[in-house]
Amino acid sequence: MKRIAVMGTGYVGLVSGTCFAQIGNEVICCDIDQQKINNLKNGIIPIYEPGLEDMVQANVAKGRLSFTTDIPSSIQSADIIYIAVGTPMSITGEADMRYVTSVAQTIGTHLNQYKVIVNKSTVPVGTGRLVERIIKENLQNEELTFDVVSNPEFLREGSAIADCMNMERAVIGSNSERAAKIITELHEPFKTNIFVTDLESAEMIKYASNAFLASKISFINAIANISERVGADVTQVAAGMGLDSRIGSKFLQAGIGYGGSCFPKDTHALVHIAESAGYDFKLMKSVIETNEQQRIVVIHKIKELVGDIKGKTIGVLGLAFKPNTNDMRDAPSLSIIPKLLQQGAKIKAYDPIASKEARIHFGDKISYGNDPYETLMNCDVCLILTEWEQFRTMDLNQVKRLLKQPFIVDGRNCFDPVLMKERGFTYSSIGRPSVSVN
Ligand SMILES: NC(=O)c1ccc[n+]([C@@H]2O[C@H](COP(=O)([O-])OP(=O)(O)OC[C@H]3O[C@@H](n4cnc5c(N)ncnc54)[C@H](O)[C@@H]3O)[C@@H](O)[C@H]2O)c1
Repeated sequence: MKRIAVMGTGYVGLVSGTCFAQIGNEVICCDIDQQKINNLKNGIIPIYEPGLEDMVQANVAKGRLSFTTDIPSSIQSADIIYIAVGTPMSITGEADMRYVTSVAQTIGTHLNQYKVIVNKSTVPVGTGRLVERIIKENLQNEELTFDVVSNPEFLREGSAIADCMNMERAVIGSNSERAAKIITELHEPFKTNIFVTDLESAEMIKYASNAFLASKISFINAIANISERVGADVTQVAAGMGLDSRIGSKFLQAGIGYGGSCFPKDTHALVHIAESAGYDFKLMKSVIETNEQQRIVVIHKIKELVGDIKGKTIGVLGLAFKPNTNDMRDAPSLSIIPKLLQQGAKIKAYDPIASKEARIHFGDKISYGNDPYETLMNCDVCLILTEWEQFRTMDLNQVKRLLKQPFIVDGRNCFDPVLMKERGFTYSSIGRPSVSVN
């Protein structure tokens, strides 16, 4: 059993802290956001993540998980301190390091004995060394010792608990054998592949992994755009490609591009990391550009169906960047909806979980339905932006009756075009032949 203090109780801090408690450690999740900590103390979970609430409750009840804003005393009573604060994209595209540096200062100021400090936040290569330097500069007693480890997080929002409890790998980067051993032992109950490496390589593994997955998405989206033009079906192309074990079938679903709190900022940050190291990462720049253009594809598709967008009512299904999350960070809906509004469309939108977050962004510029059917009533076209299961299983006969015209633009390829034609829809999706009732 280890005593762990987690700095930053967001998606990553809360999920990984809870999972460390679940395997028997004593975890205290810390945050500077008093409201968030008060809520957690009252059993209110700030994010929607399947299975999280139950696991938090169970571990709080067993006395293994607690929440606090008292960061100094949490630092002092922990053996291991995890840094899981945000590293959002700055205006210039680099990772904004202010939260990481601030936490490092606090850790340095309050360190009272040997501890392992672990970077779980996604941070530019060299941050481990930076954290080490900041802690050293702030130590109250120069004889105190500590080690810094990089242990990047690979969980996916929407399946974060399962990803964490059944992690495919734990990457542990450190230049200290002692610290690497402590963090390796911590991960043993997860029965996972433990990959121990140096600090810089671990930091690079996280960016390289996200950048590679983002590249796969942009690649298949580019293939989708070509497929549409030459009469191929991208879902068939992806299925055929995926049978090759060197390629694999995952991350080959064509759509409106990646979004969320990680891929957009991490791809931009990697371009900057490369630039500061004197390398022009043209491949990554193209991946980013392809992704930005891909979001707009659905707007062209709407125009093909309804002509001028001005005055048309568009029923948008899905606002979160992917299903099973209420996270709206860099969701495609945030770039697509403003463009539709600019062109004079009226937007009625629905998301099973993220409507509350969406209101923060769109306010009353759009209206919100309580379910897909209420949303689509009297709309000129239905636009699917997130592949929630609820949309895949909609009563299509009812949808057809509610829409002014049976037009669906599907940015996530939720339905089979042949079936949609049979059901009487004019249906336009990504990288597949469009079908029309006429
Ligand atoms: N969200 C994901 O799916 C995911 C997956 C893998 C890695 N990551 C990385 O993990 C890191 C955290 O991401 P997140 O999505 O959990 O962020 P988040 O914004 O949800 O949470 C960050 C939390 O840190 C708190 N914080 C800020 N400064 C603090 C301080 N000085 N002391 C204590 N708490 C402080 C904030 O109040 C906030 O609650 C990022 O680097 C991100 O790139 C995220």
